Amino acid sequence: GLVTSKEMFKKAYEGNYAVGAFNVNNMEIIQGIVDAAKQENAPLILQVSAGARKYANPIYLRKLVEAAIEDSGLDIVLHLDHGDSFEICKSCVDGGFSSVMIDGSKLSFEENIALTKRVVEYAHDKGVVVEAELGKLAGVEDAVKVNTKDATYTDPDEAAEFVHRTGVDSLAIAIGTSHGAYKFKGDPSLDFERLEKISKLLPNFPLVLHGSSSVPKEFVDLCNKYGGKIPGAAGVPEEMLLKASKMAVCKINIDTDLRLAMTACIRQILVENPSEFDPRKYLGPGRDAIRDMVSHKMRNVLGCSNKK
Ligand code: G3H
Ligand code: 13P
Ligand code: NA
Ligand code: ZN
Repeated sequence: GLVTSKEMFKKAYEGNYAVGAFNVNNMEIIQGIVDAAKQENAPLILQVSAGARKYANPIYLRKLVEAAIEDSGLDIVLHLDHGDSFEICKSCVDGGFSSVMIDGSKLSFEENIALTKRVVEYAHDKGVVVEAELGKLAGVEDAVKVNTKDATYTDPDEAAEFVHRTGVDSLAIAIGTSHGAYKFKGDPSLDFERLEKISKLLPNFPLVLHGSSSVPKEFVDLCNKYGGKIPGAAGVPEEMLLKASKMAVCKINIDTDLRLAMTACIRQILVENPSEFDPRKYLGPGRDAIRDMVSHKMRNVLGCSNKK
């Protein structure tokens, strides 16, 4: 059925693994991800962004996830990704989500606390859990140097104060990951020392890592080989994510890698079969490509296979 992430995170924390949170926008993406979770016997979070709600119309996504739960028999968390206002969080709480994220990371510390608290009060009253964010995810353009880390990465003492004052259920932290396919210009690195400090100040508290696609070279190359143009794409190395999964990180967000897998597959099919124009002939394989990518993540990166 539809569940919150409460138990999932408790088990992940104690079992030294992370649950994958995958972004969904349409039927094929949902089916591919759910197939993988079934195959891997893994816990699962499906997340919907404001952009996804706009693209698909919220009711379609909710009904598709409902269908996925009914058809698969799995326990699934339906989560709002990066809610930026009380109103969108309220709309998702009222609309059947079991988890919402209020992302006040662009606000001041006090404003972020006030907004998060308001969402927590509303959501908890209805049995819905809340994720918040503290610190700013850096992009390639932000050129994170040692001296800028303190300004953008999550401050451990602030994280502890934030959690205690808001009563939030999980917290997304900034330690060097960023959204999209261009995460690092030079050598990739994450601030594991900071992660360790945060987790020491918040015992048994689940942390979340956004921007956790690995941007596998194989898929970037496939896209480029079949007419794509995404040079210099780079993600978080899998071994770093595996390391974070074994620590207090209990939720790892992945979207870009699913987009790459599906697009690489569809590009290849269209180039190799120019007379094909039945959408099922490329959306079907695209769905399988998502399934295989998600299965690989669960098994080799998150450590959550057979942890359902
Ligand atoms: O955090 C961003 C996610 O990848 C969702 O992206 O806003 O384009 O749906 P989106
Ligand atoms: P990626 O762009 O690295 O897949 O991150 C997705 C994410 O953090 C969604 O909230
Ligand atoms: Na973990
Ligand atoms: Zn994110």
